[in-house]
Amino acid sequence: MINLSTKNEKKNIIIAVVITAIVVGGTVGLIRFASNDDSNSLELYHWWTSGGEEEAINAVIGEYRTLYPNVSIFETKIAGGSGTAFLPVLKTLALAGDLPDAFQMHAGYEGLPYIDAGYIRQLDDLWVDNNLEDVIPDVVEDMCKIDGHYYSVPVNIHRNNVVWYSTAVLDDAGVNASEIENWTDFFAACDLLVTAGYTKPIALGESWTAVHTFEQILASYGMSFYEDFINGKVTDGTNATLVDALNTFKTYLSYSNEDSSTTQWPKATAKIINNESAFNIMGDWANGEFFVAGYNYGVEYDTFNVPGTADMYSVTIDTFMTPTNAPNPENAETWLELVASKDGQDAFNPIKGSISARTDANLTKYGDYQKAAIADFKATTVMYPSIQHGSAAPETFKTDFGNIISAFVADEDVTAAATAIAELASLTSDDWTNIWDLD
Ligand code: GAL
Repeated sequence: MINLSTKNEKKNIIIAVVITAIVVGGTVGLIRFASNDDSNSLELYHWWTSGGEEEAINAVIGEYRTLYPNVSIFETKIAGGSGTAFLPVLKTLALAGDLPDAFQMHAGYEGLPYIDAGYIRQLDDLWVDNNLEDVIPDVVEDMCKIDGHYYSVPVNIHRNNVVWYSTAVLDDAGVNASEIENWTDFFAACDLLVTAGYTKPIALGESWTAVHTFEQILASYGMSFYEDFINGKVTDGTNATLVDALNTFKTYLSYSNEDSSTTQWPKATAKIINNESAFNIMGDWANGEFFVAGYNYGVEYDTFNVPGTADMYSVTIDTFMTPTNAPNPENAETWLELVASKDGQDAFNPIKGSISARTDANLTKYGDYQKAAIADFKATTVMYPSIQHGSAAPETFKTDFGNIISAFVADEDVTAAATAIAELASLTSDDWTNIWDLD
């Protein structure tokens, strides 16, 4: 389980530019509607623009339109996986006092600066009125809370430590995925694939996906090390585990496509769909891309957990927040209620690839991958949060950590990266206000 407490108040919470603004239903300024005169409207901001992501959010928006036909929805989508382009825009809007009615945010550290600045509406009443504590697991609840109060509602639980693979490519190279348990097995499988003609058997995407991958490698060295890492305690560049993890990542890169820095995550996943590559480490939003391709889990594609993380569950939780000065507070509230509801989540998650953040999901609506993920989520005793996906570390660390990993993908200099990561943890020590306890 994840336990989280804060340094100031040890409360032992259980938890266990180029911006592409695509606008539906209105006109847009540089990044935002120039004006919105409709008095009964809902301004909605998110970054879900890949095939699977878009279908998923459209399903919930469809439900909202059915329930509230008189509300005009002004939707702004800012493309860029993991919110890489969205979050800077949101910050600008917040500083201008111009946040939209409802917007996407990862649970955990990511919303903290907005909450600290007083921009975000506290949602304790909404949680009570909708009986959310009865159906949301503790781990998710506590990641939506700051100092004992709720500021967001969760829409899902994504899993990060997944290797997606093409069954045809593995069969072709004579690789048996069920025999891959550790990095040695994994790289031996890569060698077989290279021999079979798949010169770059691993599909890797742009910078943030490299960070996502490296986090899983860090976790594969055990929760004690990962816990230290996300508590800002790895402050020595000669730390043997950090150096080992970087060396493993270096080997991983040697089997990966060289154009990763310009490959957006759906394109990396498409390399598996097209049988160009064998493996892609990605969160289970990738499942949405396989759905869109019409693939069946266990037939054309399959998964195993990242080597070394077999019994662990790395969580990313998407939430929605609303600001204290929402232009349409009632519509913001009905949106939050819908995305937190059983129907809203059962419309969204079966397409998104994630599992519902509620324990009362209608399982008949979910595919085989998600049924297995739901069982794993219930069974796991080790969950860990993500730095890249906003939960595990302060923004000051996350941003420069991403830059260090980008540089590493280009120069593969283990000593330089280890030194820079350790120095960054020291430099940002005041910002690590949470204490994670992962065992
Ligand atoms: C994650 C987010 C997911 C998915 C992914 C790729 O950060 O939690 O919902 O959208 O980025 O964009």
